[in-house]
Amino acid sequence: MFRHLLVFLLSVFTYDVSCITINLESAKAVRNVSVKFVGVTLDSGLIATKWRTFDLKSQKVLTLAKGLSPSYLRVGGASSDRIMFNKTHDQPGINLSVADWDNLNHLAMNAGMDLIYDFNVILRKNGQWDPTNARQLLEYTVKKGYKPAGYELGNEPNHRPQVKIISEKQLAKDFAAFKHVASSVGVPPFLTIGPDIGGVIMPYLEKFLEAGGGDVLDAVTMHHYYTNGQSATLKDFTDSKLLDSLIPEVQSFVKTCNQKAPGKQCWLGETSSCSHGGAQHISDRYVAGFLWLDKLGLSALHGLQAVIRQSFYGSYYGLIDTHLNPNPVS
Ligand SMILES: *[C@@H]1O[C@H](CO)[C@@H](O)[C@H](O)[C@H]1NC(C)=O
Ligand SMILES: *[C@@H]1O[C@H](CO)[C@@H](O)[C@H](O)[C@H]1NC(C)=O
Ligand SMILES: *[C@@H]1O[C@H](CO)[C@@H](O)[C@H](O)[C@H]1NC(C)=O
Repeated sequence: MFRHLLVFLLSVFTYDVSCITINLESAKAVRNVSVKFVGVTLDSGLIATKWRTFDLKSQKVLTLAKGLSPSYLRVGGASSDRIMFNKTHDQPGINLSVADWDNLNHLAMNAGMDLIYDFNVILRKNGQWDPTNARQLLEYTVKKGYKPAGYELGNEPNHRPQVKIISEKQLAKDFAAFKHVASSVGVPPFLTIGPDIGGVIMPYLEKFLEAGGGDVLDAVTMHHYYTNGQSATLKDFTDSKLLDSLIPEVQSFVKTCNQKAPGKQCWLGETSSCSHGGAQHISDRYVAGFLWLDKLGLSALHGLQAVIRQSFYGSYYGLIDTHLNPNPVS
């Protein structure tokens, strides 16, 4: 329905038409989606920058988060591959403190959101993923009775130079090792989600799923941005060609998932208007709603089960601003 409405609006923008008739067939649904179809992210870069002006314990943030629930709250991104839980001074990387982890879990639980956490895949030993630090976090999580809904391992493995050393086959093994560790620690049922493929998704995704990744995962994820926020213009946000560029990408993704990981869910695991933090003074405005609504409609239509919005807070595409007020302001 959004799409038809959008086509109508775009037509009005593009051509000088005075009258258009549109027929909305609202009585019959083309797809049913889960109540958790729309989720949000918090970029793990926020952990590196000590959350900036965000406050996990703020009543205002909790109230806004409640307005989005039930939904997934995914904490992940490029910085995930630098994070260590409860890091000591001689260990490299970014510190996810015990208090950070407590606060994240409390926010998610109090808001009725399902937390998803993205583990560092760059912690390695003899070519394999080293689960030592993840095990500490999982043991603590079980001890506290926290129940995140899902876990990921790494971010955009096909896209990040430092992770490129991990082959598709090795990453599939690493995911299997993660699942093994989680069950040995006694983690209650959870979703294994990944591989959070970014940019050009093939052939990495196909090879990863064929190498056993498809068996291990519950939800297969790709990331999607229409364009780079540093060069995006206002016009891009109502460009129907740009909007439609999502269609072949989602079709190819869903086809590969259905063939190589039958029965598993397919998600846009991290997605927004533009990459690199969004487009300044555009991604946070009313006009960005067109891209977003079209993305939700197309994603449902083409068979995705979840769309996770980058981001709940932070950068130009944040749903709430640095004063913790909801966007758009104009
Ligand atoms: C959506 O769910 C309703 C109610 O369960 C069902 O009648 C309908 O056939 C479903 N539609 C599709 C497209 O799956
Ligand atoms: C955090 O690290 C300290 C010192 O290394 C250790 O004593 C403590 O048990 C750790 N906490 C958790 C929750 O792992
Ligand atoms: C990381 O966080 C813990 C608290 O969980 C703290 O004790 C430790 O000093 C921090 N490490 C660094 C290197 O800042």
